[in-house]
Amino acid sequence: MAREKIIAGNWKMHKTEEETIEFIKKLASLLKKAKVSVYLAVPFTSIGAAAKAAKKTAIVIGAQNMHDADKGAFTGEIAGSMIKSAGAQFAILGHSERRHIFNETDAFINKKVLKALKLQLRPILCVGETQEERDAGQTEEVLARQIKEGLKGVKEEDLESVVIAYEPVWAIGTGLTATPEMAQKTHAFIRAGIASLFSKEAAAKMPILYGGSVKPDNIAGLMGKKDIDGALVGGAALEVDSFYKLVSNG
Ligand code: PGA
Repeated sequence: MAREKIIAGNWKMHKTEEETIEFIKKLASLLKKAKVSVYLAVPFTSIGAAAKAAKKTAIVIGAQNMHDADKGAFTGEIAGSMIKSAGAQFAILGHSERRHIFNETDAFINKKVLKALKLQLRPILCVGETQEERDAGQTEEVLARQIKEGLKGVKEEDLESVVIAYEPVWAIGTGLTATPEMAQKTHAFIRAGIASLFSKEAAAKMPILYGGSVKPDNIAGLMGKKDIDGALVGGAALEVDSFYKLVSNG
């Protein structure tokens, strides 16, 4: 069976509710039959409006983060149950900006993954090495750790809803992209890691997305590789025309 292909937009801290609705209406009018799954991770404040606007369209709405606790004294945090009730169907977890700017650890990210699965929110677990780690020859060691720790305690039957996004930190927002060959090599390494942690069958089914300066003109080359099943896109997902081109070219 062919693996699911996903193009996911990560809006980061961009767009008000009004801008969200306008974007989704325009995108939905362009998207007739998408051959890939179309995901949009919007700011928390836009999830409700986005989910409403995306109803009866092929667009799937999700969040960019969540807390693993159900409730409590965590000022400024948002629980998985809250994003779910607002209409999110997935959550990006462990994005490099969460890891590096907000100091999120593998252990914390793992708790979120387990909670998301419990709530039937699809986790998109992000992994990726920094430039320093790559230069020191630690890429594989870092990725192996992030995957092993991030997926600790996940049952094999739940793995079907997990998506991994490989985003080399040095390629995010920098205009630098891993070449399709470099990315393929790393995706194959990640898939082999999933096979050894779980099973070959589970690894064969898992969508592994690439992220980091993906644009309408480089997406086809990346997705042409056998272990690259889609993209997680920041900058180029902010304009409808460019996001639509990504979906069409992907
Ligand atoms: P970028 O961001 O496409 O702007 O590089 C990707 C991401 O951070 O998910």
